[in-house]
Amino acid sequence: MKKWTTAKIRAAKGNQKLACLTAYDFTLAGIADAAGAPLILVGDSLGMTTLGYSTTLPVTMEDMLHHTAAVARGAVDALVVADMPFLSYQISTGEAIRNAGRFLQEAGADAVKIEGGVIRRACVKALTNNGIPVLGHIGLLPQSVNQLGGFKVQGRSREAVDRLLEDTAALTEAGVFAIVLECVPPDIAGLITAATEVPVIGIGSGAACDGQILVMNDILGLGDKPPARFVRQYLNLHSLIREAFGKYIDEVKSGSYPTADHSYAATAKMPPE
Ligand code: KIV
Repeated sequence: MKKWTTAKIRAAKGNQKLACLTAYDFTLAGIADAAGAPLILVGDSLGMTTLGYSTTLPVTMEDMLHHTAAVARGAVDALVVADMPFLSYQISTGEAIRNAGRFLQEAGADAVKIEGGVIRRACVKALTNNGIPVLGHIGLLPQSVNQLGGFKVQGRSREAVDRLLEDTAALTEAGVFAIVLECVPPDIAGLITAATEVPVIGIGSGAACDGQILVMNDILGLGDKPPARFVRQYLNLHSLIREAFGKYIDEVKSGSYPTADHSYAATAKMPPE
């Protein structure tokens, strides 16, 4: 498989469903890439999956640059998208261009993601006009969790659906190459998907979208709590890893590890004492 570009992602609409994943490190990005994920998002969900925060709000540019660079080193064919953290693109278009540019220049990302619709029109235009491809993100916006009053399903009233359609039109016109649509009912996701020429990549938004994206830790069952209703957990790594760590600790304590098989042969006989 050749390298995924933003043009290939756009061209997938109507032809091929896009199964995308998040990743935060070199090793798992490499596995996602080898499995055929067309797009790997270094999500600011990093805050929860990897850094132990309860929201994405404390995640910094330096955190995101560090992890994006690791993912970019692991991903060969996938398009690597860096999530711009809270306050890195909201203050001015100048700051947005400078910060987004750092992801491409210093971390090896192919594109960036920002949250918001109509309100981000100027920002998306400024980035794309300066050669920085943008993945939009509408619906549930985790960086606005305090304003939204929690991690809630969006698009449940006529006005909310109209706003989502306006957001979709604004982002499409501003030049995004695809849009993440988070946590809206499936019929509304269908309307939004039909309303734009760019792929709509759903998370918790049903099957009508042009693709899906899930947080890698959720599908692998790495967390200690059951994931959200919309996640299909393909493995329970949490219990497998806990079991493996437990066995290792027991074997070191009992002396059954290491054995001679795990030790190096001496190259020379030790002199007698
Ligand atoms: O931060 C993230 O991982 C995301 C995805 C859930 C789309 O924004």
